Amino acid sequence: MNIVHICADPQPMEEAASKQIAASFFASVISQKETARIVNVDLTQEPPAPYTTEEFRNFWYPVLIDGYVPTKEEEAASTYANEQAGQIREADVLVLTMPMWNYSMPAMMKSWIDHVLAPGLLYTVTDNGKQPLHSIKKLVLLVSSHEVFSEADPRDGLSPAIESAFEDIGVTDVSVIWADGQNPKEHVDFESRKQIAMDAAEEVAEEICEDFQ
Ligand SMILES: Cc1cc2nc3c(=O)[nH]c(=O)nc-3n(C[C@H](O)[C@H](O)[C@H](O)COP(=O)(O)O)c2cc1C
Repeated sequence: MNIVHICADPQPMEEAASKQIAASFFASVISQKETARIVNVDLTQEPPAPYTTEEFRNFWYPVLIDGYVPTKEEEAASTYANEQAGQIREADVLVLTMPMWNYSMPAMMKSWIDHVLAPGLLYTVTDNGKQPLHSIKKLVLLVSSHEVFSEADPRDGLSPAIESAFEDIGVTDVSVIWADGQNPKEHVDFESRKQIAMDAAEEVAEEICEDFQ
């Protein structure tokens, strides 16, 4: 089983609820499946490259303009996207860990997604629509936030956006594990909320280890 973990939380582990949920998830995976291959990408240590005109042309002009052949410069501008997509193409499971920022995902996570969800990288565009060029079967979102959110909360600009983007390339099995209410001044039960999320992460990891033998 191949798992790729993309993390966009700049806080140190002891202060980062989302990273602690991730730690719970991966401890559970490792305890059940020693052979699991886990690749970690910390976007706070390796920030995504800026998205340039050349990169846009390299990936999008061939599907927008018949017969378009990218230049060498356009190809060269796409190194970051190629490398990142290459890492996740063979993944069975993709785990995205992040806090909620301004009712959405941190910009570094959005940028990473913008780079990798490109035609020719994780999907190809055919007359019959988009065809996946990846083997991702399961997407796991590990999220933390200060405020408390209800199911399908209209203020949530994070999970629906990510779910839609991946559904578009054929990833429909998604688990969202969310420690909300993490502001200790407003929510006295912040620790138990985090613990519930950590327990849920363990359970999802168990299900994944059963599904991917
Ligand atoms: C730039 C920024 C924007 C934030 N925006 C929100 C927000 O819109 N809603 C919310 O509930 N919390 C918001 N927060 C609080 C974070 O979600 C909170 O700090 C998070 O639970 C911390 O996660 P961590 O413990 O995993 O690092 C924001 C924090 C920062 C730094």
